[in-house]
Amino acid sequence: MNVSDTKANLSFSNGSPDVELPIYKGTIGPDVIDIRKLYAQTDMFTFDPGFMSTAACESSITYIDGDKGELLYRGYPIEQLAEKCDYLDTCYLLLKGELPDANQREDFHKLVTQHTMVNEQMQFFLRGFRRDAHPMAVLTGLVGGMSAFYHDSTDIHNPQHREISAIRLIAKMPTLVAMAYKYGLGQPYMYPQNNLSYAGNFLRMMFGTPCEEYQVNPVLEKALDRIFILHADHEQNASTSTVRLCGSSGTNPFAAIAAGVACLWGPAHGGANEAALNMLEDIQAMGGVAKVGEFVAKVKDKNSSVRLMGFGHRVYKNYDPRAKLMQHTCNEVLAELGLEKDPLFALAKALEKIALEDDYFVQRKLYPNVDFYSGIVQRAIGIPVKLFTGIFALARTVGWIAQLNEMIGDPDYKIGRPRQLYIGSTRRDVA
Ligand code: CMC
Repeated sequence: MNVSDTKANLSFSNGSPDVELPIYKGTIGPDVIDIRKLYAQTDMFTFDPGFMSTAACESSITYIDGDKGELLYRGYPIEQLAEKCDYLDTCYLLLKGELPDANQREDFHKLVTQHTMVNEQMQFFLRGFRRDAHPMAVLTGLVGGMSAFYHDSTDIHNPQHREISAIRLIAKMPTLVAMAYKYGLGQPYMYPQNNLSYAGNFLRMMFGTPCEEYQVNPVLEKALDRIFILHADHEQNASTSTVRLCGSSGTNPFAAIAAGVACLWGPAHGGANEAALNMLEDIQAMGGVAKVGEFVAKVKDKNSSVRLMGFGHRVYKNYDPRAKLMQHTCNEVLAELGLEKDPLFALAKALEKIALEDDYFVQRKLYPNVDFYSGIVQRAIGIPVKLFTGIFALARTVGWIAQLNEMIGDPDYKIGRPRQLYIGSTRRDVA
């Protein structure tokens, strides 16, 4: 660690001795105060339930500057990756730290492509679910269930097992998401086809049927690939921290990633894209653009608990760079499909304009996040609203794995074990 010359000094008003705390410097971003020895030195914990001021780990994967609205994967700006690379290049970068050269690229693409089929027995496992189950409920089960099918890659402390499980998870997630979708529809599953791209293969497994040839639309393929890139990693968010904490016990990689899927489901996290589209549909049903003012008033009313979904972020206090790219992709997809006049897109733009000019949002630095436009793109592609978070989970799997492997690969890592401020009853006896 890069130790700073500056030290932090903690003093107490009750005369207890001062404590000197080391400070470490990152390559960019805020420095951190090392409090690891604080309990031993003072008999006190720090208190930060929402991790508002706590760095839970060191990482060299993703960097976010929330004030600037900047997102870097391994140092590369998200805008450049979205423009010049595809999703599998991005996966390689996140996992290995560098973009692949031509040979590495070919090998990696081949490796992932060769692992896209899932154990046939998983079909029967899937059949145990109700057909109307939420896809995230199904996915949580299927991903966790992978540990029951792939016994030869469950030892998280074995680097080879970690590598094989990483490839399996990245390769098989699209197959599982598409299977969950087809199962809900009552249509036959489509086996993956190895001559297609990662996104193209997913489109075919989702929308193809065994009855006829499926032609991949290159504009939709590119749009989906971009959705995957934009969602691939996002530093120490709730689901990633869940994966790290779960994996810190030494559990197998499939179980740890299943924990991430479960966490992502919540509407304050990955579930926001579904919630954002449902919100737009509700406003549309109320009367559309004419009702935007009324809706925004409800959002601002402290007694209403209504939030503008797809707006606001714990880290971004500026426009989420992913939202800008997503808006651009939205324009391309709607133009390709002849949906330029899509009423929900018009509604989203009207809502965004009003919110960005409104004092409530300006003062709180609330800007559109990635979920504000991603739902409109996915809906236009034909992805049902209930599956949106499943697509997010598919794309984020690589980030979860990269973060998990970074933690396990660190010889100094420890099981995550937060402490608490106990406010319950003191010791008492049963009468
Ligand atoms: N609509 C209305 N008010 C909001 C919103 C919103 N979307 N987001 C935050 N606020 C207000 C909030 O009421 C609070 O106001 P006050 O200071 O008067 O009490 C203030 O802004 C700060 O909000 P917070 O809830 O304390 O902030 P947080 O950092 O804990 O929450 C958030 C971040 C993303 C959970 C929140 O902004 C939110 O609920 N947004 C809507 C859900 C959403 O779009 N989530 C997707 C996040 S991006 C994808 C991902 O990473 O998963």
